[in-house]
Amino acid sequence: MRMVVLGLGYLGATHAACMAELGHEVLGIEVVPEKRAQLAEGRVPFYEPGLPDLMKRHIDTGALKISDSYAEAAEFADVFFIAVGTPQKKGEYSADLSYVDSAVEELVPMLRNDALILGKSTVPVGTASRLSERVDELAKDVQVEVAWNPEFLREGFAVQDTLHPDRIVIGAFPGGQAEALCREIYASVLEAETPMIVTDPATAELVKTSANAFLATKISFINAIAEVCDAAGADVTAIADAIGYDARIGRKFLNAGLGFGGGCLPKDIRAFMARAGELGAAEALTFLREVDNVNMRRRTRMVELTKDVCGGTLLGRRIAILGAAFKPESDDVRDSPALNVAGQIQLQGASVTVYDPKAMNNSRLLFPTLDYATSASEACQKADVVLVLTEWPEFRDIDPEQLGTVVRHRNVIDGRLCLPKSEWITAGWSYRA
Ligand SMILES: NC(=O)c1ccc[n+]([C@@H]2O[C@H](COP(=O)([O-])OP(=O)(O)OC[C@H]3O[C@@H](n4cnc5c(N)ncnc54)[C@H](O)[C@@H]3O)[C@@H](O)[C@H]2O)c1
Repeated sequence: MRMVVLGLGYLGATHAACMAELGHEVLGIEVVPEKRAQLAEGRVPFYEPGLPDLMKRHIDTGALKISDSYAEAAEFADVFFIAVGTPQKKGEYSADLSYVDSAVEELVPMLRNDALILGKSTVPVGTASRLSERVDELAKDVQVEVAWNPEFLREGFAVQDTLHPDRIVIGAFPGGQAEALCREIYASVLEAETPMIVTDPATAELVKTSANAFLATKISFINAIAEVCDAAGADVTAIADAIGYDARIGRKFLNAGLGFGGGCLPKDIRAFMARAGELGAAEALTFLREVDNVNMRRRTRMVELTKDVCGGTLLGRRIAILGAAFKPESDDVRDSPALNVAGQIQLQGASVTVYDPKAMNNSRLLFPTLDYATSASEACQKADVVLVLTEWPEFRDIDPEQLGTVVRHRNVIDGRLCLPKSEWITAGWSYRA
């Protein structure tokens, strides 16, 4: 089938390459010229394991083409995925839908055939309904259907998650072609017995925001328990292991630590609260404010812990920060807890050197005033304290004895509970977490 993907960021570039992998002919539309130029050569402008191979292969065969032209898009196909960003509005909790709106405003008047617009971007409930009305106004003598097909991919596993999703959710208005076309688009995925849930658009939109709200709640739950453990001298990891054996609870997403960040969970729970408020259901989601609070408190707690290890002041201390991406196997630093902590520590007078295996360029753009090193060992030169803030395997595998020879003091704070604690202690480190 022929299809267009509008917006080629973490979600859209992955989706476009994976649709080509499923055997479709895909045109990807991206407005940023630098991203477009790289993608057109089969290069991926961000780090996502497995994606460069797929991208290069399908650009080379011509199954995937890249353009900035909506006119070309309108001619190319009758199925359009919206994968543009929906960031948090500045100074507000709600989602900024201007990118989604402008994609629709530009595309629809150019359509000369009946078409299906499938939203993949994460949007507040009611967006598909609003867009559907707007599309009816914009469409010239053609029927344009809007449906929502939310995306659940995880950065770092995006290719795997797109080609082998846990489930496919389609939110369609009655009487349209969306379900039938999605069955064709995802035919090979459905053959692998992937569940497909077909529902109305409002429910599909809420499936996505509810999923992210639940995941955020799970992380903040264990981090709240970690606060009590700190006070009581108990072991939060043992608690997570023990409660995680209960199948109703499950062990995943119960790792206490520096909390969540990135381009999805923080802005999605805030947009969810804002939308519930607009709908008169604010009270239902007040707990998400506490989920957000617990999460943000982790960052301040990490700064306080570092200060404590430094003897009460950060002034003039050298702090090594290992990790900048919001999670391992990604170079995404949007709302990165690690960089947030690095910035706060620097503001309190410490000299901070950051190292991340993949996120150095993005970190420099976001926090140009921090110092950056090209290896963990270089970042730790003469450090008073080493902070591990993203659980990259490279950091888990550090030889504490060797690293101990470059630091000024053997102080480590394990912000992700990912280090082999006893090995570090045996190597003479003071270990905090
Ligand atoms: N990143 C994820 O892991 C993930 C997972 C599930 C859902 N989502 C959702 O997917 C959406 C996109 O997220 P992302 O992380 O890929 O964001 P992103 O910022 O990486 O990508 C968005 C892309 O769209 C481009 N764009 C903006 N306006 C455009 C337009 N009018 N036409 C064409 N291109 C345009 C931008 O230049 C950018 O490259 C968001 O709603 C997000 O919540 C993301």
